[in-house]
Amino acid sequence: KKCAIVACPFSGGQPKAGVDEGPMHLLEAGLVSQLEGLGWKVSFDGHHQFEGISAADDPPIGILKNPRFVSRVSEFVANVVGKHIANGELPVTLGGDHSLAMGTISGTLSKYPEACVIWIDAHTDINTVESTESGNIHGMPVSFLMGLGSKVEEFSWVKSILKPENLVYIGLRDVDSGEKKILRDNNIKAFSMHEVDKYGIGKVVEMALDHVNPDRNKPIHLSFDVDALDPSVAPSTGTPVRGGLTFREGHYICEAIYETGLLVAMDLMEVNPSLADAVSVAQTVAVGCSLLRSALGETLL
Ligand code: ARG
Ligand code: MN
Ligand code: MN
Ligand code: MN
Repeated sequence: KKCAIVACPFSGGQPKAGVDEGPMHLLEAGLVSQLEGLGWKVSFDGHHQFEGISAADDPPIGILKNPRFVSRVSEFVANVVGKHIANGELPVTLGGDHSLAMGTISGTLSKYPEACVIWIDAHTDINTVESTESGNIHGMPVSFLMGLGSKVEEFSWVKSILKPENLVYIGLRDVDSGEKKILRDNNIKAFSMHEVDKYGIGKVVEMALDHVNPDRNKPIHLSFDVDALDPSVAPSTGTPVRGGLTFREGHYICEAIYETGLLVAMDLMEVNPSLADAVSVAQTVAVGCSLLRSALGETLL
């Protein structure tokens, strides 16, 4: 049991400062020793330092903001994640904003092309170059991974091999209209909060796994955006949306995925310690750590 913390202080996929401090806060809360307490050998090579690109050298492409910076950081992260997997370690990537998942999932797919992705989020982050209204790339990584929309030369390193049948969402409640069409057109399985209310989280996770992993034999990449949780549970995040997962629903997802024994990589994204008061920040950081512990095997009994 070996895992590797990939700390990514990066905020270029969205406009709010502070999300780059997420990894530092999660580590200062004692994440490494918490995971060691679960029996993991944890490697942590320090916080990656991403060389910024000046605004003058990184003008928008179309309306995409900071495209070169986002692309280079994700490409770097893809290599780091791929190397950890090749090393027999389970990479745990701490964001930073969710554009980083373009890198983490590329890294996972480079070693396990048949891996499935379980994306826990209030948002689908599947806007294309054509559909994005914000130009914030953290709302777009999934479309790049699947090769949807027109290609951007700057992102040509992304292999775009994620198949629609290998992706499932849980927790959705703020999906842009262009994204709803993309989900329909590509037959992408999605469990919104409506389905969580209707069936309960236990059934939803079972149905999600039945869809992407019917024989329970494919490696799983879990990408967890902390804004999937209700803002009363995880207030310190850049794009909170009310009506989210409860504390237990979020943890149940992580526990159930651990129980499959198939988890090969995990992301915890969008913790922004500069948003909200100190108590809310501490609460959000603590819930981030406990989601990671659940995904890495912490049990209640
Ligand atoms: N759909 C919106 C956009 O494309 C919001 C995306 C929020 N994404 C996130 N990773 N928090 O801008
Ligand atoms: Mn989100
Ligand atoms: Mn997200
Ligand atoms: Mn701080």
